[in-house]
Amino acid sequence: MKYGFFDDNNKEYVITTPKTPLPWINYLGCTDFFSLISNTCGGYTFYKDAKLLRMTRYRYNDTTLDTNGKYFYIKDGDTIWNPGWQPTKTPLDSYECRHGIGYSKFTGVKNDVEAALVTFVPIGDPVELTKVTLTNKGTAKKDIQLFSYVEWCLWNADDDMKNYQRNLSIGEVEVVDSTIYHKTEYRERRNHYAVYSVNAKIDGFETSRDEFRGAYNGPDKPDAVIEGKLHNTIASGWYPIASHQLNVSLAPGESKTFVFALGYVENAEDDKWEKPGIINKKKANELLAKYQTEADFDEAFEKLNAYWNDLLSKFHIESKDEHVNRMVNIWNQYQCMVTFNMSRSASYYETGIGRGMGFRDSCQDLLGFVHLIPDRARERIIDIASTQFQDGSAYHQYQPLTKKGNSDIGSGFNDDPLWLIAGTSAYIRETGDTSILKEMVPYDNDMSVATTLMEHLKRSFDYIVNHKGPHDLPLIGRADWNDCLNLNCFSEHPGESFQCFGPSEGPVAESVFIAGMFVKYGREYAALAKLMGDTAEEARVLAEVEKMTAAIEKDGWDGDWFVRAYDAYSHKVGSKECDEGQIYIEPQGMCVMAGVGIEDGNAKKALDSVKEKLDTKYGVMILQPAYTRYHLELGEITSYPPGYKENAGIFCHNNPWISIAETCIGRGDRAFEVYKKTCPSYIEDISEIHRTEPYVYSQMVAGADAKFHGEAKNSWLTGTAAWTFTNISQYILGIYPTLEGLSVNPCTPAEFGDFNVTRVYRGVTYNIQIKNPNKVQKGVASLTVDGKEVVGNIIPFDGSKKTVNVVAEMK
Ligand code: BGC
Ligand code: NOJ
Repeated sequence: MKYGFFDDNNKEYVITTPKTPLPWINYLGCTDFFSLISNTCGGYTFYKDAKLLRMTRYRYNDTTLDTNGKYFYIKDGDTIWNPGWQPTKTPLDSYECRHGIGYSKFTGVKNDVEAALVTFVPIGDPVELTKVTLTNKGTAKKDIQLFSYVEWCLWNADDDMKNYQRNLSIGEVEVVDSTIYHKTEYRERRNHYAVYSVNAKIDGFETSRDEFRGAYNGPDKPDAVIEGKLHNTIASGWYPIASHQLNVSLAPGESKTFVFALGYVENAEDDKWEKPGIINKKKANELLAKYQTEADFDEAFEKLNAYWNDLLSKFHIESKDEHVNRMVNIWNQYQCMVTFNMSRSASYYETGIGRGMGFRDSCQDLLGFVHLIPDRARERIIDIASTQFQDGSAYHQYQPLTKKGNSDIGSGFNDDPLWLIAGTSAYIRETGDTSILKEMVPYDNDMSVATTLMEHLKRSFDYIVNHKGPHDLPLIGRADWNDCLNLNCFSEHPGESFQCFGPSEGPVAESVFIAGMFVKYGREYAALAKLMGDTAEEARVLAEVEKMTAAIEKDGWDGDWFVRAYDAYSHKVGSKECDEGQIYIEPQGMCVMAGVGIEDGNAKKALDSVKEKLDTKYGVMILQPAYTRYHLELGEITSYPPGYKENAGIFCHNNPWISIAETCIGRGDRAFEVYKKTCPSYIEDISEIHRTEPYVYSQMVAGADAKFHGEAKNSWLTGTAAWTFTNISQYILGIYPTLEGLSVNPCTPAEFGDFNVTRVYRGVTYNIQIKNPNKVQKGVASLTVDGKEVVGNIIPFDGSKKTVNVVAEMK
């Protein structure tokens, strides 16, 4: 069952009922100022950091789903309603939400009044704009009242939820004309405040939540809206809000438009005050002055659309498969941008207060994003590398505001260092910019010990070389990619964090997954060393890679698939020898992607085992059989009920690894079958089972052992976005950036047909036609570049050209 439809021309998903199975959200903002917005106008706003600079409040663990947002109430006679349905939930005569690229639109109609909202964050300004257009669709005059509503968060979203003894006494606001200023804590250590304004003369305002709502009412029945009158209260402590009242008369057929602006303003320390106690509003006024008219709004909206159209045009496919076209051209790239911005911090499943930017997460996000805005990718790589320790290990997370490593979680996730190589290699393959390798980058933000980025990569690599266990495989530390495989943790008491409890390293537990990564990214690092002219380093690295490959072949192979790990007793994990958790997905994907087992047929065997043991109609599960009891020696993975999350869920992130691995052995049919199973557009029809947004990937879909097999959770912020885009664009469609230039080597289903790709690469636009007359799955027989046949798969890079036309014929 569907709850809407794709409008590909407008790059929108159109939701036709407010009662979606779960809130279906969108993200506004591109760089510093962000909002989450649901299909019923729920969500919240923050500047740069969802924990430390939260502007509006959201309620977690809410009893009615999706409580708190930026609402507009309309009072029309005795009826009060909202264009996005929440929070009054007054039944609407018609409802539509269009989530687009960086904006959302809502249209609600009730009793002949239409309210249309368009909301977005303009490029370059820390402000969310909402245009509200009210239209009288009836034949009689309408006299209605429009009320805006936001509830301020007292900035630190964590403290805001906990520290009532202080917080209920500190709220402060100012109101001047149509602008409400939220200035809690500005009197002391903050140099920033928020504003909420409208471009019209108002008929009243409210800044106290209790006055607006009545202390015992919910947001669905605010006293002041029912009464039709705000009381112009200046809040002092308690719960500051911002609400404007506009009394609107509409003749039949008449429309009136208002532009609301919710902004963030920072002042210099020595320029905070206009006079004692009164904030300096100059910058706020300048910001608001830019968006005073509908024309200002429309122009900024056009700019946003142009920005996105330009970004998305960097990779564009035309094929006969509408799902692939839609996901590749629009939604998958868009989700990559969002994961890049948010890492795993702020979603409807991540509160924004717990986790900052993940080291491994952000490195992987780069893979899907680097072709869109390489400059920001470059900056991100430096930020991430700056949190690395001198021995090559890394803080697992860092805060986006301070860019400092998060010592609560610390280090010890032994896959982390290698992801830095993965991200840097992707950046250089995309841009050719080797200057980044010469940048001086600090360790743990200490510039006095800075080295080149290349040296950081070396230390990443050597961290693994220097931390091997009894089978010459990499020590796992606290965990590898699978945060829940905690082989050194041994936690017996509730409340202990599986990620931080126990030693950060044990001398025995090893990871075959990291071994696979070491081979794959070790080779990429060797290629960078070669590129930089350091052939001695290249040779050293390749020798280490060979040793690791041998270790995998010897002790990482279980007969029909790759072993997952060795635990702290040196017992196998993910082996036939185990009673539960006999086969895991990760080493099958990673080892084959690294090329291990391709020549001797083990790769094929491993992938056949994946199909036989782990496949379901909703995707490939992470392991089987699911753990039915808690294993002290394995950690969090066995804490989840069977079928959920890392315990035998369909962890979407590593489905593309399997799909890529299949392309490595030339099986395009199977690669695509795996791609399709979790592809949002392909499964739109089962939205009532899948439940999360049909336009983005979720982290997890419940596996076959779960009660709700097929139900997804944790939509939006997942490495699935980047890895799926990498899979479809670089491996299935086969347009892969190498150090020398773009390589063309598709691996598609036999029936996929011909297709055309436009790809902007290092400033050159490539128009690539792929022809597959004989319906093969892999293999390019001829590659013609601007009319000339070239040998091999790589289009030689020529930066002097603007456009290059390529024809590849598969054999
Ligand atoms: C989740 C993992 C996550 C980890 C760290 C676990 O509870 O299952 O997916 O990576 O927490 O936040
Ligand atoms: C989510 C985390 O963000 C990611 O870093 C991790 O690899 C997966 N969970 C698997 O545990």
